[in-house]
Amino acid sequence: MEGVEPPIGEQQLSRVYIFDTTLRDGEQSPGCSMTTSEKLEMATALVDLGVDILEAGFPIASDGDFEAVDAISRQFPWVQVAALARSCTLDVERAAEALRHAKRPRIHTFLATSDIHLKHKLRKSRQQVLDDAVAAVSLARNYTDDVEFSAEDATRTDIEYLEAICQAVVEAGARTVNLPDTVGFSVPSEYAELIGRIVRTLGDRAIVSVHCHDDLGLAVANSLAAIEAGARQIECTINGIGERAGNAALEEIVMAIKTRQERLPFETKIHTQNLFPASQTLTRFISFGPQPNKAIVGENAFAHEAGIHQDGYLKNPLTYEIVSPESVGVPETRLVLGKHSGRHALHKRAEDLGYQLSRSELDELYQRFTHAADNKKGLRNDEIALLIESIIGGHSREAERAVPVPAGH
Ligand code: KIV
Ligand code: ZN
Repeated sequence: MEGVEPPIGEQQLSRVYIFDTTLRDGEQSPGCSMTTSEKLEMATALVDLGVDILEAGFPIASDGDFEAVDAISRQFPWVQVAALARSCTLDVERAAEALRHAKRPRIHTFLATSDIHLKHKLRKSRQQVLDDAVAAVSLARNYTDDVEFSAEDATRTDIEYLEAICQAVVEAGARTVNLPDTVGFSVPSEYAELIGRIVRTLGDRAIVSVHCHDDLGLAVANSLAAIEAGARQIECTINGIGERAGNAALEEIVMAIKTRQERLPFETKIHTQNLFPASQTLTRFISFGPQPNKAIVGENAFAHEAGIHQDGYLKNPLTYEIVSPESVGVPETRLVLGKHSGRHALHKRAEDLGYQLSRSELDELYQRFTHAADNKKGLRNDEIALLIESIIGGHSREAERAVPVPAGH
């Protein structure tokens, strides 16, 4: 029947492609450089995760980047591997050479389009930049059909000019047009407007892609607003690493889509149970891990400390958990026992540690536990076990003393 929404679950889901740039935008940021063998191991985690396009490096930037693109192309021939190139001959040729063993190579060429960049960085006119972009895309098409063009600083670019350059690169053969929020300047409603306009301009001649930086903490929100406006590729990184405040976090985007299907009727091919393992692999190779309260992969993402929360969670996890830890590969929900925890959680932890406590033992444990937790950030399992042992031990010594000694001894 016309005008009636199909029930949730029967809606047609639009496919969104996940373009991972952990090994390029992520790797180029401070504290994140990796060796080729580390990049290969990280690429394995990304392939297991099911990313659609894996950006493996910026071959002209260093021999290490060239080697990584080459090695990843050889090791994962079935994967769509991308290499970055500025819009100039040397860069495009170097990217093509690094990708020569890839079965599904993508050349990703970029050029800044905002007046700020044209005036202060490139010192070129709008026409010169448009010509360079078209020339780079045409050259790249001699090596592969799969060419992406990025209009760097798109969100601060004059919209008519941006529209003209997008049309010109698509005419030259670009299949994907990326509109980066390079400096993390945009807000969701504004970004959605921009994306919607370019989607309408290009129609089905190209996929519109987004690439958001997190300078104002809006990278994920902007990326989600963009897919609602018609973008179908999202560029993102594990743990949100990347230049300055980072890129949009892959795990947050994917889980937002998966968790809120009724508002975000999209699908990705990400195997979500591999999200946490991928995050852990990355953390092994770079100099910092995700912040403890980082969504999805942070140490505390599934930790409940407040007593009311723990009580509700133990009665039914749905009370305080919208994503299950297993669905993203986190081994267990962590009930942190701290000063806000209640008797219910403490009792459960004692049972998990193998103790069956009587009511009076539990009373005593709770009293001693709250006293200890008041002075600490939280008690570890071994500390709780010690407390329990001292209570049980104390009781059994009292019991021993209470047993009457038989006469004659
Ligand atoms: O942030 C940016 O604009 C980029 C481009 C090279 C895609 O990383
Ligand atoms: Zn970037």
